[in-house]
Amino acid sequence: MKMPKPVKLTSKTPIMRFKGINTKTEIFIKRDDLNGLLISGNKARKLEYLIADALNKRCDSVITCGPVQSNHCRTTVAFARNFGLFPYLFLRGRPKKTPNGNLLIDRLLDARITYITPSEYHNKRTEIMAEYAKRLIKKGKRPYIIPEGGSNEIGALGYLDCMREMADFIKKKKVDALYCAVGSGGTYAGLLLGKKILKLNIELNGVIICDTVQYFTDKILKICEKVVYRFGMKIKITRHDINLIDGYVGSGYAIPYPEELEVIRKIAKTGIILEPVYTGKAFYGMLQTLKKKKYKRVIFMHTGGLFSIFAFNRILFSKVSC
Ligand SMILES: Cc1ncc(COP(=O)(O)O)c(C=O)c1O
Repeated sequence: MKMPKPVKLTSKTPIMRFKGINTKTEIFIKRDDLNGLLISGNKARKLEYLIADALNKRCDSVITCGPVQSNHCRTTVAFARNFGLFPYLFLRGRPKKTPNGNLLIDRLLDARITYITPSEYHNKRTEIMAEYAKRLIKKGKRPYIIPEGGSNEIGALGYLDCMREMADFIKKKKVDALYCAVGSGGTYAGLLLGKKILKLNIELNGVIICDTVQYFTDKILKICEKVVYRFGMKIKITRHDINLIDGYVGSGYAIPYPEELEVIRKIAKTGIILEPVYTGKAFYGMLQTLKKKKYKRVIFMHTGGLFSIFAFNRILFSKVSC
């Protein structure tokens, strides 16, 4: 099958030399946090493919899910509104009296939100969205379901493109490794596919921010296999190609810890904002592992998430974990 043509809403992002921390390794940052405003961050690359697929299938609405402060949901709503699709969200958590961060944007853009419990989200989110889609179809609508984080064989193509975008830089500068946060696996899967297709000699380190290495290895492998099969790619990806780093989750998803918060505050002084859910943990994890690795040059993938800091306003200035 031919690779689909994505819609275009993002701007090209720079790779910047980072000088804020004294390390033996030279650190570069791929600024995917600068790819847009309401759409900023890694979800936009995936959505350029997913929304293209929805439009090709003549859908008129999108359904997706995530936690209350989901960057993916906010980006999906922004994309949907830009391309004339109606956004439906299933959010894990409870409604807020005064919504802030990503949720405030979801509300302002007037997404139709249904709140579900953590156990419903964990055990039945796919079924819940499918059931809802059936109900919409009965009413004459044409919904398109996007899985959590936009992480499937379509969304992952966005990060294959990103690897293509970085390939010359990686070769010219002889970059040894790339680090990214892993939250639903699609970003890592796309980067890995790109690395294989372009035969890049670079280590791909994914810092997990929830769940387990086993869970994400299986998930990433499955996404990669589906892409390879669907688009007839002549590459083979095995679980040995997947290098995930554990130890920086802390007490759980979206629960920050003091060392991470310290790094976020330190990096902010250089004008770059990391957030406590994904990039804060990934950057902290990278700095810790750099102490043991002999890398000369690395790239940190800044995957965005700026709006979620508004939901962490108090904790960002305290020294204890929440
Ligand atoms: C800001 C940010 N960074 C990183 C990630 C992780 O990317 P992925 O879900 O593709 O693993 C996410 C979403 O989960 C995110 O919102």
